Amino acid sequence: MKFPKQFTWGVATSAYQIEGAWQQDGKGPSIWDAFSQIPGKVHDNHTGNVACNHYNNIKNDVALIKAMGLKAYRFSISWSRVLPQGRGEVNEKGIQFYSDLIDELLKNDIEPWVTLYHWDLPLALHLEMDGWLNSDISDIFLDYAALCFERFGNRVKHWITFNEAWVVAILGYGQGVFAPGRISNSEPYLVGHHLLIAHAKAVNLYRTRFQKIQNGKIGITNNCDWREPLTNAPEDQEAAQRALEFFVSWFADPVYFGKYPDSMVERLGDRLPKFTNEESELLKGSSDFFGLNHYTTMFASEATEVQETSVYGNGGLSEDQNVNLSLDPSWKLTAMKWAVVPWGCGKLLEWISERYNNPEIIITENGCAYNDELVNGHVNDIDRIEYFEKYLEKCLESINKGVKLTGYFCWSLMDNFEWASGYNKRFGIHYVNFKTLERTPKASAKWLTEYIKNQTEQ
Ligand code: GAL
Repeated sequence: MKFPKQFTWGVATSAYQIEGAWQQDGKGPSIWDAFSQIPGKVHDNHTGNVACNHYNNIKNDVALIKAMGLKAYRFSISWSRVLPQGRGEVNEKGIQFYSDLIDELLKNDIEPWVTLYHWDLPLALHLEMDGWLNSDISDIFLDYAALCFERFGNRVKHWITFNEAWVVAILGYGQGVFAPGRISNSEPYLVGHHLLIAHAKAVNLYRTRFQKIQNGKIGITNNCDWREPLTNAPEDQEAAQRALEFFVSWFADPVYFGKYPDSMVERLGDRLPKFTNEESELLKGSSDFFGLNHYTTMFASEATEVQETSVYGNGGLSEDQNVNLSLDPSWKLTAMKWAVVPWGCGKLLEWISERYNNPEIIITENGCAYNDELVNGHVNDIDRIEYFEKYLEKCLESINKGVKLTGYFCWSLMDNFEWASGYNKRFGIHYVNFKTLERTPKASAKWLTEYIKNQTEQ
């Protein structure tokens, strides 16, 4: 059992987490620039001002990918680097940066996979028009997407409109732990709605104006943990199903079926906006592949009382779902306190295949944080190796069961700014010394290189 020859192997990053250069060459601020300057919002008040300084290091960083023999790299464009105010005047130096990065990748035989939005909304749009809360934002996003297709689409053949709309909505506008830091039990659903419409419009534009000439694919990436029913009781089975629907179907049902899941419609009432017929038609079938970010698993059961929400790993606004989440105490935890449950990955892949009629699935992120230490120039991250090995084994099993999984991107190329956790949580397969910014391949990078070589059909 090996991965098919055509399988896409890659690594992933995002702009705010690695680029730094927050004010260099005319970049405008994003909501993450603003959020991270507020004392107390990020672990130890870390910011992405410098991050990995990837902006000034592209040759070196592309070489790391090349050295692993990987043929794909997923990164995101910082909207306010190319459009400092989110709209209007273009910052040509920002365009040049991404253009150079793309050229450097192609020169090294690495396919760029580009995410248009990985959470760093231009601050100007938040201040002037309330960002994702305003329905006008979808047309502004459309103009930004058009600019990217125009400037980069001759060389970029894989586009992802949004990374994890769930996180944008729930952590940014529900729990307020991510930028822009708002707390509400209705805004997440409005924001999610606008994200979906923006996605559909951008895909429509790509398909009608660019796809035929540029020959690329476009889709959306959603995140989802697996939810395993705590018991065989029908209430718990339903709770697990509902938890998955509130997590991934919130965004995937509109994209595949043009509507929200019934469980959400029933429970949320007026807080869940409605699509017009036109929007619903535009959404239906609006992804050429199912982008999936997957990290962990929890048990789900019917809630007997409202559970306290936690920053990570919960199912959103849990009172809306009436689901309790729990862990098996025997599960190993990563530094994020996310449980390592490889079989959850397999179950989720099969659940997605079944619900969405066997779509092409690409795991656009999977990985884990550990408290890595550099000792004599080496990082012996055996827990991470074990994580990859076990999760990949389940991916392969799913492929053999008929799941159309065609790619896998590990998160992340290097340690970086892990949002509210700052530089305290290391997800990289390359270790970054945040004083010198020197990168060192961890044992996992070497392991992955060999694994891919040996486990892929030639
Ligand atoms: C994802 C996100 C990444 C990364 C990762 C680990 O949700 O897309 O940016 O931070 O989680 O937490």
